[in-house]
Order: sequence, then C-alpha cells, then structure tokens
Amino acid sequence: MLEVKIITAYPNIFPGSLGCSVVGNALEEKKWSLDIINLHNFGYDERKSIDDEPFGGGPGMIIRPDVVEKALLSLESLTQIKRKLIYLTPSGNPLKQSNLSEFCQFDQLIILCGRFEGVDQRAINALNFSEISIGDYVLAGGEIAAQVLVEGCIRLLPGVLGQPESLLEESFSNKLLEYPQYTRPKVWKDAQNNSHEVPKVLLSGHHEQIKQWRANRSIEKTKLIRPDLLEKKKKEQK
Ligand code: ADE
Repeated sequence: MLEVKIITAYPNIFPGSLGCSVVGNALEEKKWSLDIINLHNFGYDERKSIDDEPFGGGPGMIIRPDVVEKALLSLESLTQIKRKLIYLTPSGNPLKQSNLSEFCQFDQLIILCGRFEGVDQRAINALNFSEISIGDYVLAGGEIAAQVLVEGCIRLLPGVLGQPESLLEESFSNKLLEYPQYTRPKVWKDAQNNSHEVPKVLLSGHHEQIKQWRANRSIEKTKLIRPDLLEKKKKEQK
C-alpha cells in the first residue's frame, strides 16, 4: 500500500481533493494511506514558530532547516521501504506524467509543502528532497500542488480506476494530447437554437475508421496547442 505523508504548515487544507471521487474512495478502501504532519508541532520556540528572516535580506520568511528535519525524523523510517522525498516549489523540475508513473511505485512518498518565501536550501539538499513544480506560476504554497501530484499518482495505482484501459488513451500516455470526446444527445440544440452534431464517424460502428479519426484528431490538437510534444516525440523516434 502506498503511504503518503504530507508535511505542511496548513494541515486544514487536507484532504481536500484527496478525499473525493475515485481517489477518496481508494483512500477509504485502504488502497493508499494519507498522514498529514503539522510543521508547527516542530516549531523552535514556545510560539511554535517555523520560519525566520532570509540571510542576505529580502522580503518574506523562510522555513528553518531544523524544523523540517525534526518533522521528517518524527516519521518512522524502515530501511527496507522504498521512500521518495519531494519538496513542492515553483523553482523545481516541472512535473510530468512520467514522474507520476515513477512516484506511484514507491512504498512511501513524503511531501514537503513550501509556504512564505520557501524552505532553507540546506534542508532540501541534506535531507535529499527532489524539488518539483506543477507549472510555471506561483501559488501561495505547496499544498494544492501536493494534491495535484498525489491525485495524479493515486489514479495510476492498480484497482483505483474502474476502467484501467482509460489510462492507455488519455493525454500524455503516448506523448500526445487526447482526442475530443462526445456523448448523447447526437444532436445538441443550444440556448440560441444552434444545432451541434457529433462527428458522423463516431456513430458509424467502424472501429478501424474511428481509431484512425481519433489518432488524426489527437495529432491535430497536439500540433495546434503543444507542438513541443510532437517535436519531442519525433526526436525520440530518430
Ligand atoms: N508552490 C507555489 N507554487 C508552486 C508551483 N507552481 N508548483 C509547486 N509548488 C508550488
């Protein structure tokens, strides 16, 4: 069972999305476990402070390395378990679907959420945290990013999705964006009385033609909005 341990100054943000839908059901069914560790329990003074001013000046406060270490040492560490330490920060490596496939194979994920201006770099380096960013934008802290990362991992665990074949065709599974999807009604009339039809090929029952149509849409869409993915795919095939 994958154990997820999240170290945060804002424990109330959890479980958030991790308690809902397929991921929340899997938590209830004990397909994975979630522990939230409050950084303030490891504060360095009577007021349970966790941060201090940056050396060299500048705005904001930095989470202290001794506080992070104490929080980490409070977690049981058995040598035989495969554990991955992740620090969520906008200055980390960009998160990819391939990272999620890798992370979900560990026995334990320990995720440190940054807040304020970040965490003292010595803690990140000395304690061996991998720095991960969920995108080129800055959130107020790593908690939502942690939910993004964990949700992405948990849905890949065996038995979590009702139809595991959906993993094969979704966006990024073959380095392309997924083709567009349609459902009933066959003709949808919008509030302005415009009719919108489902592409005819999808109603044809011709599996080969449907497969081809979807592959073409997938390439077309990727070309339009993520040409970088196609370039990368081409390079890998060389
Ligand atoms: N904390 C703040 N912004 C973040 C981001 N983009 N990714 C990961 N952690 C963050």
